[in-house]
Amino acid sequence: MRRGAVFQLLIFAAVVGVITTVTALYPNWLPPQASEQADRIEYVFWYVTAICAAIFSIVGAVLIYSIIKFRAAPGDDSDGPPIHGHTGLEIAWTAVPFLLVTSMGIFSAVVLARNDRTGDNPLKVDVTAQQFAWSFKYPQQKNLATTVLRLPVNRTVRFHLQALDVIHSFWVPEFSQKQDAVPGIDTYLTVTPNKTGVFPIICTELCGLGHATMRSTVIVMTEKAWSKWVKAASAATAGGGGANAGKAVFDQNGCGGCHTFKPASATGKVGPDLDNLAQDAQKAGKPLEDFVHESIVDPNAYIEKGYPANVMPPTFKSLPKEQLDALVQYLISGSGGAK
Ligand code: CUA
Repeated sequence: MRRGAVFQLLIFAAVVGVITTVTALYPNWLPPQASEQADRIEYVFWYVTAICAAIFSIVGAVLIYSIIKFRAAPGDDSDGPPIHGHTGLEIAWTAVPFLLVTSMGIFSAVVLARNDRTGDNPLKVDVTAQQFAWSFKYPQQKNLATTVLRLPVNRTVRFHLQALDVIHSFWVPEFSQKQDAVPGIDTYLTVTPNKTGVFPIICTELCGLGHATMRSTVIVMTEKAWSKWVKAASAATAGGGGANAGKAVFDQNGCGGCHTFKPASATGKVGPDLDNLAQDAQKAGKPLEDFVHESIVDPNAYIEKGYPANVMPPTFKSLPKEQLDALVQYLISGSGGAK
């Protein structure tokens, strides 16, 4: 190959390389990183991206050069000259990709293995997914339950995920970690938050009509603030009773994700408005308390006009009796009482 051709190829490669690099680096493609695992995943991501950008530059340069240099003249229908293989070139384009892909595989395997390490004393959190809500329990904190996840910064968390009905997927973009919650299977996920802040929890598995509303929040706080919250929340739960207990059941089961209910400041639109329970009970021809109880444990017994059947999950019939009773009383009190 003549010196001029090599020079041209290098120019084209440089141009394609610069455009590719600027496109890769300039917009913020990735969410801000807020976990140790996310930082490691980012290394792999940029390592692979850099290799891809380099290969793309070489291929782009050869392509542009060939289009310009070997363009057939108008009306030239003759065959091109026959070309024999080039042993050196073939060895190179087999060996180099082999080494690159193998290095990506090893790098990824190391990161995956390290990202799964929990250390001696991980904070355990049980995650329960159901249509269409997340709920969390801290088994080491006397099963403290919550619907807004709170975590201490810089401590490794071992999530244990379970689903009550269909497949859901637990995802906090800033943590870069994602794991399915599958009925009948226990799945696990390790995250070490390394920045304080408020981040979204998103369901990323299409799980039904309310899938898009199946969201919660994780608040990463200092160790001190987190311990204080655990104490306060545990005390509130232990002393709970009456209306508070009902509201806690409402919140923990994510009722507000689908229903509007003013006393709980809930604004869900998937299911009927729970501020109208008294009128709905009348339409169903049943006493209010029986109607509310039945609608929770057997949602298809009476379907409010304008709403499809089989949307409300049948899983709430497994609520413990005292929780169910508290919930019924809470809903009745909120609907302005029996009329
Ligand atoms: Cu749960 Cu989508």
